[in-house]
This record gives sequence, C-alpha cells and structure tokens, in this order.
Amino acid sequence: MKTEHKRILVTSALPYANGPSHIGRLTGAYLPADIYVRYQRMMKREVLYICGSDEHGVPITIQAEKEGVSPQTLVDRYHRMIQDEFHQMGIRFDHYSRTSSEIHKETARGFFLDLLSKNILVKKPELQWYDEKAKRFLSDRYVEGTCPVCQNADARGDQCEKCGTYLNQMQLIDPRSKITGNKPIAKETTHWYLPLGDFQEDLEKWISGKTHWKDNVINYCKGWFDQKLTDRAITRDLDWGVSLPEKDSSGNLIEGVMGKVLYVWFEAVLGYISATKEWARKVNRPNEWKDYWESEDTKLVHFIGKDNIVFHALMFPAITMAYNRGKSNGRLVLVSEVPACEFLNLEGAKLSTSRNYAVWVKDYLAKFPPDPLRYTLTSILPESKDSDFSWKDFQARNNNELADILGNLINRSLSFTVRNFEGKVPLPGVLDQTDREMIKSIRSTADSVGKHIEDFKFRDACKAFMDLARAGNKYFNDRQPWRDLKGNVERCATTLNVSIQVVTALATIMQPFLPFTSKRLWSMLCIGGEPEEADWNSIGHKPLPPGHPLGKVGIVFPKIENEAIEKEIATLSQSKEPQITSHQKEMVTIDDFSKLDLRLATVLDAEKVEGTSKLLRIQVDLGSEKRQIVSGLAEHYDPSTLVGKQVVVVANLKPAKIRGIESNGMLLTAGNDKELAILTTERQASPGSKIS
Ligand code: MF3
Ligand code: ZN
Repeated sequence: MKTEHKRILVTSALPYANGPSHIGRLTGAYLPADIYVRYQRMMKREVLYICGSDEHGVPITIQAEKEGVSPQTLVDRYHRMIQDEFHQMGIRFDHYSRTSSEIHKETARGFFLDLLSKNILVKKPELQWYDEKAKRFLSDRYVEGTCPVCQNADARGDQCEKCGTYLNQMQLIDPRSKITGNKPIAKETTHWYLPLGDFQEDLEKWISGKTHWKDNVINYCKGWFDQKLTDRAITRDLDWGVSLPEKDSSGNLIEGVMGKVLYVWFEAVLGYISATKEWARKVNRPNEWKDYWESEDTKLVHFIGKDNIVFHALMFPAITMAYNRGKSNGRLVLVSEVPACEFLNLEGAKLSTSRNYAVWVKDYLAKFPPDPLRYTLTSILPESKDSDFSWKDFQARNNNELADILGNLINRSLSFTVRNFEGKVPLPGVLDQTDREMIKSIRSTADSVGKHIEDFKFRDACKAFMDLARAGNKYFNDRQPWRDLKGNVERCATTLNVSIQVVTALATIMQPFLPFTSKRLWSMLCIGGEPEEADWNSIGHKPLPPGHPLGKVGIVFPKIENEAIEKEIATLSQSKEPQITSHQKEMVTIDDFSKLDLRLATVLDAEKVEGTSKLLRIQVDLGSEKRQIVSGLAEHYDPSTLVGKQVVVVANLKPAKIRGIESNGMLLTAGNDKELAILTTERQASPGSKIS
C-alpha cells in the first residue's frame, strides 16, 4: 500500500571512517540514494538526505592500531576524506555528520537511559572471551575463530563473513585473540541487553505489512524470526565509543558503567537522528528535526548494503519500538523502505581493501570524470543480485552509450543548429505524426523514469532515460535534416526544433544520474538557473522558444582510449593474487567436502612413464590395499626420492586410464607447473588413516 507522505527522510548507511572509499562502497548505499533524492527534490517534495561517519566500533580501533595512530586521528582523517570523495562524485547530502559529535553522544545516551528507566534493558553477567595477556575483553572483531555454521577458520567474533551468520562470540570454535594471537579464556562480565525476543511479535506483525519490500530483505528477516530473536548486548568493554552515562534519568548513579561503551550498532543507527538534529541547528530551525522523526507522515528510507539488513530492518525498529513504548508524544517513525543492495564484484572477483583489490574513488577521479562512473554503476547496480564491474564494460558504456548515443544526439542537434541556424532554436513548421510522437515520448519518458526511481529500480530508470536518447538519434537519422537543408528548410527547421526539445528534456531528466553533465548541458543550452532546481513535472512542457540562442557547443563525453583502460586492468591484476581464483570457486558445504575420501598412503615404488616427460607411475600402500596412481610429478621429483614418503590420496576418485595406464586415485600437491610440492604429514601416521 502506498500513501502520499508529507516528507521523505532518506538516509545512507553511515560509513565507517576507517579508510578511503572504493566503488563498492559507493554503489550500495550512496549512489542510488543520491539519485532518489535528486529526483524527489525535482518533484518539489520535502525531502531530507542525511548521512555521516560511523566513528566508533572495532573496525575503527583495529584500523587505528594498524596505521599506528589514535582512533581520533584516524576518524578525523577519513571523515574528511570520505566526505570529500562523496562530494566529488556528486553525492549531495543535506547533512553529513559524525558519530563522535556531542549531539550524537547525548542522543545515544538519552536512548539508553530511556530504555533503562522503563526497565526494558536486561542487565546480566555473561561469559565473554578475555585475553589474559592483553588484559582485555575481546569484543566483536577482536576475537576470531572457526565458524560453528560453515567451519570457516577466520570467522570474527560478531559475524562470519563467509556464510553471513551473526555470531555470539562464545559460539566460536578455537577462538584466538586478534591482539596477542593467544587463546582467550572465558570470563564473566556484566552488560546491558536489549531483549529482542520481546519485540519479535510486534516486529513480525509490522514486517508482514511490508509486502512490497525486496525479497532479499523480507527473506532475511524471516530467517531471523525462524531462529527466534534473543537478547543482544548493547554495551561493550571498550574504551573507544560512546561511554555509558553515569547517572540514570532520576539522577542516581548507575552501577557498573565504568569502562563500558554503547555497542556501535546500537548507537550508529541513532546517528541518523542526531545528524538530523545537527542539520536542524545548522539551518537555524532547531526543532525541525522533529517534523521528520516525530511524524507518522514521514517516509523514512534507509539505503544500505545487504550486510546491514538486520540492523535496519530489525534492530533499529526494535530500538524505536522500545523507545516509543509508553509515549503518547514524541513517538518516532519507523522505517518505510529498506532498499538494500547486494554486492558489487570487480572483474569477476570479490573486492578486497586489505589486498588493495579495488577501484578507489580518489584514483578514479584523478583520471576520469565522475559521471561515466555514476552511469556505469547505476546501469549495473546490484539491485537483486551481485553484479560485476569491469573496466572494459565501463569503457563500452562510456564510448558506446554515453558518447555514441547521448553525446552524439546532443552534439549533432546543437552543432547543426549553430552551423545552419545562427545558433538559435529554429522556428518549426507544421508537425507531422512522427514529430508529435517524438515529442510525446519526452513526457512519457520523464514519467517512466520517475516511476522506476520511486520503485527503487534504478537500472530500469537509467535505461529508460537512455532510450529517449536512442529514440532521438533514430528520429534524427530517419529525418535526415541535412538533406532538407537546401530544398525544404522548414522541414529541416522542424526536425532541429524537435531534436532540441529532446536534448533539452534529456538535460533535465539526466540530472539525478549525470548531474555534472546536466549542468554543462544547461549552460550549452543557455537555459539559465540550475538543473537541480528544475521541476520534474514541467519536463516536456516548456520547450525552448524559437529564436532562443544556444551557447558554446562542445563534446560532453570524450571517448576513453584502450590504453587508459589497459592501464587500469594492469594495476588491478597486480593486486590480484593467484589464490583469488580458488576464492572464486563456489561455496561447498561440509557435506560436499565429506564426500571426498582422503587417505594417507606410503609410497612403495615410483618410476617414470616411458615416452612422457611429466608422468610417474606410483605404487602406494593404503593400509588395507595397494594402489597404482599416475601423477604428473616427473619434472619436479626424482622417482627414487619419493619412496617411503607419506602422501595424501583421494581414494574414491573414479579410476581413469592415463596414457593407457590405470590410475586409481589422485595424489594431492600444492603449486603449479613451475613449482610443485606433494602434500605430506608432519609426522608418521599409519597408511590408510582418514584425513579430515
Ligand atoms: N558503518 C557501518 C558499515 O559501514 C554502517 C552503519 S549504518 C548505521 O557497515 F546505521 F548504523 F549507521
Ligand atoms: Zn560461517
């Protein structure tokens, strides 16, 4: 059910201020939100776009330790850098705040006290991993270990990145401290918990009304409901973060708050509220934040990446419900829309900041303008499934779509007019059916682009606007105005007039997607004012009048040469380690893995296979039986040195004939053609031993 809301409050996930931005960050939560907001502003709706830096939590302190600076220095550095990168990419927030601000700390503590005073929070001791050497509790990512769900050996204390499960750190198998590498001990500590289970019924009821939400969000929430929501600690034993208030709302000391901070996810989501408060002060209307937050009429839209769904679709709403409990005034609005994006890959592999396998916004902007990247990322936005950025595709979109379709239409229409009509919009003659249809499609394009944006279908929106340029080119080609120039000037003038109407409309329709080009085009067309201030509803209704002078015409989308693209690909492949191909393999379950019968075997005999340079015929003892295996080791091992070695064999590999010789199994090796080593055991064990 869609109702017309009075105001729209748009948020993008607050990025951790722990590093520069790459295109993956840009794609999920910021670019689509910016397009959405730019469109809503042109629809003259009351819309506010809020964001800011997430400056607390373990991702910050771990990075600060890595860079050898204080957390404060780190967040100061990256807060500014990220804000600047967003700005250069044309992302236009109404306010970009930071969670280290006083107003945020006050707001977050206020929520804690509110829930505390209503006895909603549960204070209880629980076991947590404690590093005896570092004398610290290991919150969240400070402890790693094996995931109990997927057996990934590098799961973090708060989440397993491999299978996506949010973990309670005590579930980790073989935990190890990120600080000292030591095995931590379980030690009791007291924390405040939000009893999410108490809110499950209300949450389920509320989400059941969100039938239009994306499947990824709904399914994710259902998964959580099936598992049953439980108590979540909202405090941590850390010294970086929003410290707990010392006194409760009646002024009494709260026991046990020393050395504890609010859990980053509890306070970060509240950052949307504190940032709105800060915005209201900035514009000198300090109470106006309430018009957005304390009103049922607000459409609250959270743009996020899929890894943040649980916090925006369940945690924050639960916190809000808890806060609203018992209040008749000042109740906060719950989120209306959670357009969560999936992930963006790069040249077929996962982006990795630690390996520097990424396209950094700063590096990109040093070489290319922002709009082609905005266009490419919008065209491939991972709206419903992961998608892939490739430099070749970027080049193709710039050259074949932006330059050859959009740029071409603009250039040929305007240059022709400058050359042959004194640079003034020609006076049209009588319009025929084709002209009228071309003009009609201007308004229908504006409508369908708008509808797609409202539905969070940015790829479709982008395509619809480019389709108008396609149609414009076809119209121009079919009409061949150059042929009419001599014999039928009026026909020629009409074609040019209509083409310029299309170009004028495109200059405005492209504003949400290509704001920089839109601005340039406005000045080429001498429209006056700013495209941002244009009214979406007037697109197609206000053609430039005949006689209107055009400005200086230039190329809007220069082509990108192969050389420039090859360079980028080469830079990336340096960061692409060889093992990345194995990372790309499909996930297997533990059941898949257990289908392999891996056994230890002792080599009894080995000899070269006549007439080949690579193959060895190897006899092994598998405990209960002897086997013959043909293996490509001859260039790496002298057969006699293998005898007596213990090797790992895939015992249930289907028998095969290699060069006519039976091979019953496979010997495991590491490496490649150039460098190869057989796998063996660290100490002798009985032949036939199972490997697991
Ligand atoms: N900092 C988080 C991330 O980068 C997002 C926080 S969103 C907020 O994944 F709502 F909590 F602010
Ligand atoms: Zn896992």
